[in-house]
Amino acid sequence: MADKYAKISDILAGKFTGKAVMIRGWVHRARSSGGLAFVVVRDGTGVVQCAVKKDAVSAKAFEDAGKAYVESSVKVEGEVKEDKRAPGGYELAASDFSLVSLGEAFPIAKDQSTEFLLDTRHLWLRSQRLTAIMQSRDYIVRYLREFFFSHEFMEFAPPIITKAGCEGGATLFPIKYFDDEAYLTQSGQLYAEVFIYTYPLVFILAPSFRMEPSRTVRHLAEYWHLEPEMAWYDQKMNMKLQEEMIEFVCQKMAKEHADLLELVGRKPDDLKKIKAPFDRMTYTDAIDLLKKKGLKVEWGDNLGVDEENALTKELDKPIFVHNYPKEMRSFYMREDPENKGTVLDADLLAPEGHGEVIGGSERIWELDELLKRMKEEKLKEKDYQWYVDLRRYGSVPHSGFGLGIERLVKWVLNLDHIRDTIPFPRVINRVYP
Ligand code: 4AD
Ligand code: MG
Repeated sequence: MADKYAKISDILAGKFTGKAVMIRGWVHRARSSGGLAFVVVRDGTGVVQCAVKKDAVSAKAFEDAGKAYVESSVKVEGEVKEDKRAPGGYELAASDFSLVSLGEAFPIAKDQSTEFLLDTRHLWLRSQRLTAIMQSRDYIVRYLREFFFSHEFMEFAPPIITKAGCEGGATLFPIKYFDDEAYLTQSGQLYAEVFIYTYPLVFILAPSFRMEPSRTVRHLAEYWHLEPEMAWYDQKMNMKLQEEMIEFVCQKMAKEHADLLELVGRKPDDLKKIKAPFDRMTYTDAIDLLKKKGLKVEWGDNLGVDEENALTKELDKPIFVHNYPKEMRSFYMREDPENKGTVLDADLLAPEGHGEVIGGSERIWELDELLKRMKEEKLKEKDYQWYVDLRRYGSVPHSGFGLGIERLVKWVLNLDHIRDTIPFPRVINRVYP
C-alpha cells in the first residue's frame, strides 16, 4: 500500500486521530438520508465509517457517495475523529469522496444458500468471515514454517506429477502426460524420503490430490499437505516433534490472534489448553473402547468419520492412535518388532470430533523388508525402482508425517466443514469457479 493512503487498521489503532488522511477500498455498506451519507469502507485491513456531509464536500463527491453500491471501489479523504457510536470507534469526516468503479449491484445479499455462495465464491471471498478465516490460515501456515525453520529444517520442492501412488491406487487422479499417462500426487512423502539424503531434516508443503468418492465434512479432492521427513528419527521422536509443532501453532494463535479466533467462533482459551504431551492409545485399545461405546467395529476395520468422532468428541486435546494393523496401512510403514502384525505409525486425532489431522510413521529402511512388503501389496517394482534404490545406497532409519493444512485449520478455528478453510474447495461435485 502506498504511503499516501492510510491503512484502516492504523486508523482503528488511533494512529491518525485528529489528522487528515486518504483511504481507498470497497464499500462495505452505505446509507444516506437528506444531506448526509454514511459509507462504511473496507480496505482488507479493517472497516471504517465515513460520514459524507453535503455541505462539506463538492456536489460531485456527494452525488458519488449517494449512489455507491456495496463493493463499489472508492477513495475518501477526510479527518479522523474518535466516535464511540461508529463501528470500531472511529469515523472519517469526509472532505472528498470519489468512485473508482461504481460497478453493478453486488449479487450476494444476506441469507443466501450454501450452493449459491459456492457458485459466487470468487466474490464471497471478500466477506468478513472468509477474510478472517483466510487470514487465520495464513498465520497458521506461517507458524508451521517458523516452527520447522527454527528447528533447522529445510524446505524442498517435490514433483506434483508422478508415475505411481503413495497411498494406494484407488484415489489417484490420472492425467494425460504427452503420449503417456501419469498421476497427480497423493503425497510427496516418497520424494521427501529422497531429500533426507541431501539434508537430514526436510519438509515439503505442496498440494496433494485424492479422488475421494465420499462427500464428507473433512475430505477435499485437492488439499495442501505439509510433509516433514527426518533422517535418524524413530517413531517416538516423530510423535514428539508433531505434538510440539501443534502446541506451537495453537499457542501462537491464542496469544496473537484472539480477535480473529473470536470472529470465526473459536475461544482462544480452548487453544491455550493445547500443550504437549498428548495422550497415546493403541489402535487395539481404540477398537475395544469403541466397542464399549456401542459401535460396530472389529479389529482390522478402518476408523472412519463416525469412529473418530466417538473417540474425540469429549476430548479437549488431540490424541495419538498408534500401532495399526500392518495389512490396513501403507506399504512403506515399518513393522513394530515388539508388536508383530502392527506398524510403527500414528494418526493424530483432533478433539471435539474433528478427527485425523496427521498421519505419520517410521519407514521401512531395510531393502529386503521393503521388497517383501511391496510384493505382498502387489506393487509393480519397476514403478518404485528409484524409491527402492534409497535402501541400496547408505540407507538410514527415518520417520516422517503428513499434516493436512485444511484439517488443521478446520480444527483450530472450530469450523463445521472443511470447504471454508481453502479459497476454492475442490470436491466431487465442484471444480468451478
Ligand atoms: O494419512 P495420509 O493419507 O498419509 C499420507 O499421505 C502420508 N504419505 C503422509 C506422510 O507420512 N508423509 O494423509 C496425511 C494427512 C491426513 O492426516 C489428513 O490430514 C490429510 O493428509 N488428508 C486430507 N485432507 C483433506 N482432504 C483429503 N481428502 C485428505 N486426505 C488426507
Ligand atoms: Mg491417514
